[in-house]
Amino acid sequence: MMLYSQSPSETIRIGKQVGRLLQCGDVIALVGELGAGKTQFIKGMSNGIGVGKPTYISSPSFTLIHEYPGKIPFYHIDLYRLKWEGEAEELGLEDYFQGKGITAIEWADKIPSFLPNERLSIHMTYTGTHSRSIELIGIGKRPLKIIEGLKDSRVQGAK
Ligand SMILES: Nc1ncnc2c1ncn2[C@@H]1O[C@H](COP(=O)(O)OP(=O)(O)O)[C@@H](O)[C@H]1O
Ligand SMILES: [Mg+2]
Repeated sequence: MMLYSQSPSETIRIGKQVGRLLQCGDVIALVGELGAGKTQFIKGMSNGIGVGKPTYISSPSFTLIHEYPGKIPFYHIDLYRLKWEGEAEELGLEDYFQGKGITAIEWADKIPSFLPNERLSIHMTYTGTHSRSIELIGIGKRPLKIIEGLKDSRVQGAK
């Protein structure tokens, strides 16, 4: 599914609409260059999930893990500073993917062999100063259902 955003607030709104559809165990893998809007999107997603203020855990590899408390906990893992895939070993990612909450991974393309088989893949692309394209790819049954849900809810930014 392709969506088009014309402003940061529109990206946040789209993220919020995705967040509303998420369930415990869902994994969202975000990809896109620096400034593509991944963090803005995740901000909206956390609003949609309905969580509180995050606490930060910084691992030895300087990967930032933001933990948001809530009825369903939300984990935002930012791999920007990860130098090579092996560094992700120590993060205990399996625990996050095994359904104790919802997990969003920024720079997911840095850890191809760690990603779970089922995931909602989101590719964000800079297309102009204020415009971004957001491609959602459902990999597996549950992620495809999220995309169906977005179509049903007439998500923002669809053309
Ligand atoms: N349509 C848009 N969607 C998201 N961000 C946008 C948009 N237009 C401009 N921006 C700006 O681009 C930057 C995106 O930053 P960020 O979300 O941190 O990107 P990333 O996490 O992908 O590196 C912000 O400064 C934001 O204000
Ligand atoms: Mg970011």
